[in-house]
Amino acid sequence: MIKALRGMKDIIEDSDKFTHFIKKASEVSENFCFEYIETPLLEETRLFKRSVGESSDIVNKEMYQFTDKGGNDVCLRPEGTAGVVRAYMEHKFDKMATPKQWYYYGPMFRYERPQKGRLREFHQFGVESFGEASVYEDIKVILLASKILDSFKINYTLKINSLGCSECRPTYMKDLVSFLEEKKDNLCEDCQRRIIQNPLRVLDCKNENCQNELQTAPKITHNLCENCNKDFEKLQNELKKLNIEYEVDTNLVRGLDYYNKTAFEFVSTEIGAQSAICGGGRYDKLVEMLDGKPVPAVGFAMGIERLLPLVNIENQRNGIYLGIMTEDARDMALAKFNELTKDNKVYFENRVRKLNQHLKKADKLNLKKVMIIGEDELKNETFWEKEL
Ligand code: HAM
Repeated sequence: MIKALRGMKDIIEDSDKFTHFIKKASEVSENFCFEYIETPLLEETRLFKRSVGESSDIVNKEMYQFTDKGGNDVCLRPEGTAGVVRAYMEHKFDKMATPKQWYYYGPMFRYERPQKGRLREFHQFGVESFGEASVYEDIKVILLASKILDSFKINYTLKINSLGCSECRPTYMKDLVSFLEEKKDNLCEDCQRRIIQNPLRVLDCKNENCQNELQTAPKITHNLCENCNKDFEKLQNELKKLNIEYEVDTNLVRGLDYYNKTAFEFVSTEIGAQSAICGGGRYDKLVEMLDGKPVPAVGFAMGIERLLPLVNIENQRNGIYLGIMTEDARDMALAKFNELTKDNKVYFENRVRKLNQHLKKADKLNLKKVMIIGEDELKNETFWEKEL
């Protein structure tokens, strides 16, 4: 038997939660005036190399990359931001720094080692906001993420950090690298490699020994320039005023290279080791890095499969069951079905059944109202009706 590939899943049992999540998250995003954008699943490989970063695990180890029949080096998107940025530039919005607020959802592909909460094909719901450099846009985007999670009564911890800007980060990086060089022999192999390729990523190494060594590492939040510091304080003050609880996590650096200033993650303690349910931040240099005019931007993405176990939907009865008890009633039932489906959910059982068989099926389908046509109803052009 041919089975789905390792790390890829059919969404069947949870499909009602899945569609409900997308509907609700889209609705909340539209309340924030974000509009829907759809970008292709397949993009040129260099788009991700130049955005997510050559030194990131995603680009280094996890891309579904191949040469297509036209000889193009392409890759299944590992995340949504790069494609949305490409679309922003391709449609020339960068030329005038046109503000755009978009939301999207769809499959992403990363060739990771599958485990609970970590898939090779997974779905994200994300938002990207272009054209607004103010920290108030970061606050708006964090508020939007929290509103989506709150609408499903999901418990979470919000972690925030500031990754600084091109003014303050280089000095910090110098301090960090010289600290790491001193500790080099005590760090894991991955971290030793990262000191050269991507020193910030050493900070979020999961190895306990490395974390012990890093306790005295210089903290980026102690090395921010005046502007970044002011914004980071504003962010915290506003979150407090909005009653959004947060923790400052100076080791939160995110796994993608394009971030600056605000970085954040929502984590859940209820879903095991892969606890990040939403990650995002500001990426003011990305449009420019991809040869566009400089436009500031900020966004996030949520992992839908990680959220589904936390989503509860009330299993309320709704919809209409339409059934016939005599062959001759079929046309009348079909006409009613045509009329009702204009604005109702209707299940039309077109096989002739006894009343109790119809009722049993309506109950199983969790429908609320039953409408049946038997001989008498057909004669009188009425329906036998019952609420379940
Ligand atoms: P990310 O942190 O790589 O960020 O992914 C966002 C979310 O996708 C994670 O928090 C997690 O819930 C989910 N996720 C990631 N990998 C997997 C996996 N292998 N299996 C299941 N779920 C997974 C980004 O992708 C950025 N593009 C977010 C962003 C948007 N930043 C700015 N705008």
